[in-house]
Amino acid sequence: MCGIVGYIGHRDAYPIIVKGLQRLEYRGYDSAGIALYDGTSINLSKTKGKVEDLKNKAEKGISLTGNLGVGHTRWATHGVPNDVNSHPHYSNSGDLVIIHNGIIENYESIKKELTKRGYTFKSDTDTEVLVNLIEEVKKTEEVKLGQAVQIALNQVVGAYAIAVFDKQKPDEIVVAKLGSPLAIGIGENEFFIASDASPFIEFTNNAVYLEDQEMAIVRLGKEIKLRKIKDDAIAYPKILELQLNLEQIEKGGYDHFMLKEIYEQPHAILDTYRGRLLADQGIIRMAGIDQHLEKFVNANRIIIVACGTSWHAGLVAEYIFEDLARIPVEVEYASEFRYRNPVITDKDVLIAISQSGETADTLAAIKLAKEKGAFVFGVCNVVGSSIARETDAGAYTHAGPEIGVASTKAFTTQITILTLMALKLGKEKGEFSESKFHEYLAELENIPAKVQIALESNPLIEIIADVYKDSSNCLYLGRGYNFPVALEGALKLKEISYIHAEGYPAAEMKHGPIALIDEQMPVIVIATNKGHYEKVVSNIQEIKSRKGMIIAVVTEGDEQVTELADHVVEIPETIESLTPLLTTIPLQLLSYHIAVMRNCNVDQPRNLAKSVTVE
Ligand code: AGP
Repeated sequence: MCGIVGYIGHRDAYPIIVKGLQRLEYRGYDSAGIALYDGTSINLSKTKGKVEDLKNKAEKGISLTGNLGVGHTRWATHGVPNDVNSHPHYSNSGDLVIIHNGIIENYESIKKELTKRGYTFKSDTDTEVLVNLIEEVKKTEEVKLGQAVQIALNQVVGAYAIAVFDKQKPDEIVVAKLGSPLAIGIGENEFFIASDASPFIEFTNNAVYLEDQEMAIVRLGKEIKLRKIKDDAIAYPKILELQLNLEQIEKGGYDHFMLKEIYEQPHAILDTYRGRLLADQGIIRMAGIDQHLEKFVNANRIIIVACGTSWHAGLVAEYIFEDLARIPVEVEYASEFRYRNPVITDKDVLIAISQSGETADTLAAIKLAKEKGAFVFGVCNVVGSSIARETDAGAYTHAGPEIGVASTKAFTTQITILTLMALKLGKEKGEFSESKFHEYLAELENIPAKVQIALESNPLIEIIADVYKDSSNCLYLGRGYNFPVALEGALKLKEISYIHAEGYPAAEMKHGPIALIDEQMPVIVIATNKGHYEKVVSNIQEIKSRKGMIIAVVTEGDEQVTELADHVVEIPETIESLTPLLTTIPLQLLSYHIAVMRNCNVDQPRNLAKSVTVE
């Protein structure tokens, strides 16, 4: 998720764009850049680092004049964060300049074709390929920029919000959108382009939000004309009068980043498997696995190291890998693993899971494993992070920046990556039939929509939260794939509401925890219809007989548990190994609402940091 800003009008573009980028830094902040047209040439400055670093570099390095410009703050998906990979990107001729938020999945094949036609590339990005494709179309078809963009976008697969201008025609900016947000602010003889309204809300509250597959030529003195990219049909702009303030815009209209990130999960999961899950072709494409397949297939075992929520994702992975890929898995707290003198050999594969890519214990565990000859694979959300750079290979989640300290979309996107890995390895090892593989792929594609349905229980969950917000203790129970989800639900509640909560395997009740049960103890039970449902039902009956209060997460249409529980939250049915992606949603929302009702600082809970970079 990156931030894009553009301006064309009667004011100096530089201060508007830089301030706009600062407001969009919550969307991505590993590198930034700006390109300004001063009436004769394009002046471009870009750098690894934050917008402040860009300001320092630009104000020393380039002319800052001009009423036309674009700017970008990056959250890398292709190409590590550095100066060259930062946006904006020039076309080879130097006439066009582009900024892009999104992922072009088929950029490698396009790059190959353009290279054959003599194009050269300075960066590793998909974006630089796109701007040269536009240039090539403009040249060969002899069309204007708008048409060139339209023709080029009909050749790409992926997601984009782009703004591109041509110094030969500096009275317009062409924008287009698919899968990533793009808003146009409409002022008095001036236009603003941005990922959301925060860069222009102080200048105008009139905005047009492009729909997917729409593009526009933003030209001074002209009405905005929208077109459908696919068939050039005219689309009529809906001009909205925005009532949001700046803070609300940064949070996407949500009260907290955590709630925004909970609701981003359908998109984040889709972005994470985009370009990797090719269900119609029956393929899972993961370069980090393909290039080291024998390491995984011949591994004695997989050791997973992580901390906190990422460790819970690792526990889910243990069930998935052993169930689907039949590879032995051990899951270790990184902080324990690094000090217990573990037996590690070169026949081991270590998977390190980390949202931030900077967790000190996880990094130390990786170094220990490498010293002892293990192959190390990373699952991170931050491109170019320390862990990403330390591992032998890896796969990035594409969750976008996770600002809330309580990890939510990182958890579900980590599970998405780990599921893709297990399915790919299980298929390679012939552990299941072609039809079963296709069934998994098809169901994985259904998950974003099913997460969206699970989110619709939010109003009901808010009511339940109000009943239990003053509890002192909570118990979370789950079996099989949902035991780690019980642990994760307990962690969410304790870290943001400060209520003591514990997660347990449901069957463990009779080995101690059942002594805790009384009418003061809410028990959250994950009781989906897959995996030992009947046994969970008997656990619930044991709790009921001791006057415990039951909040049950069930599969839609459930009757038996619904009869027994005090509160029931339904999730859509799915394959057993994919249930964690859905059962975690109500638990995230429950912890969120209880924390809000207890006036806790949801996004920055006491004593916690987003990334624990020290021991
Ligand atoms: C989870 O909500 C917490 N923020 C914390 O447990 C976190 O998951 C843990 O610190 C690991 O962080 P990482 O994924 O960035 O390595």
